[in-house]
Amino acid sequence: MGVLDRFSLQGRIALVTAGAGPQFGSSISYGLAEAGATVITASRSLESNLEFAETLRAAGHDAHGLELDISDRDSITELHGRILERFGRLDVLVNSALTRGGHVGGFEEQSPETWELSAAGDMVGLFSICRAFVPDMVRQGRGSIINISSIYGVVSNDPTLYEGTTMRQPPSYTFVKSGMVNFTRYLAAYYGKQGVRANCISPGGYFNHQPDPFLENYCRRVPVGRMLNHEDVQGAAVFLASDASAYITGVNLMVDGGWTCI
Ligand SMILES: NC(=O)c1ccc[n+]([C@@H]2O[C@H](COP(=O)([O-])OP(=O)(O)OC[C@H]3O[C@@H](n4cnc5c(N)ncnc54)[C@H](O)[C@@H]3O)[C@@H](O)[C@H]2O)c1
Repeated sequence: MGVLDRFSLQGRIALVTAGAGPQFGSSISYGLAEAGATVITASRSLESNLEFAETLRAAGHDAHGLELDISDRDSITELHGRILERFGRLDVLVNSALTRGGHVGGFEEQSPETWELSAAGDMVGLFSICRAFVPDMVRQGRGSIINISSIYGVVSNDPTLYEGTTMRQPPSYTFVKSGMVNFTRYLAAYYGKQGVRANCISPGGYFNHQPDPFLENYCRRVPVGRMLNHEDVQGAAVFLASDASAYITGVNLMVDGGWTCI
């Protein structure tokens, strides 16, 4: 098998939580599907996941949409059951869902209630979905977990970036994303000998028509001089999902244009 063959995801079943989302979710789903995986996306709106799966299928890929509320344990159990019933196993789990509703406002605007909201999805939910699928991966002796963290899981927000805008920097986001990075290392260490790998991808900011002052500040500070686009994270996702990264576990792959190198 040649080196490029090892990047193939042909025959692999991959779940991308919030994988139909317009930014990183769909980007990762497209990347995995183009590499040959059967891609399942799941979030609260079954309809949008079914629609997205239809779009992927129209492009010649194998894709399916299911429902998931990452903050609801029963919903995770149900998704797990459905996937095992329909596909028999899961090879790749990409945790991309984020309970955005819990990450609003800056330090002064946040409250214990907003923290509880984010904790339910981004802490308990992250644990619960791994808890559901990892035993199956252990049984099959193979699995790749990819957690989508952020530059803000590694460094803090730079408050000067947001000057001249109404954008806020929720501390809960930094909290859950940094926890995710070390939780990934825990999984990697704990399950490495059973064939289950766990890695993080920590992207920088996705270009989403942010206010001009923010864009100027961001692009001036980041070494590559621009924000991320749809393709930027796909290579990392395919790499970590595939056998090309068979000896890589517990890493936090920065896809940040050099944000954290200075
Ligand atoms: N956008 C960025 O600049 C950026 C930068 C670094 C990391 N990230 C990370 O990338 C991931 C995707 O974020 P994004 O910004 O591309 O899209 P986003 O903000 O749209 O991500 C949130 C997604 O999570 C889903 N979601 C929300 N609550 C949910 C719930 N209770 N159950 C299931 N799904 C739920 C939403 O449907 C949505 O698709 C997130 O983990 C985010 O932290 C984003």
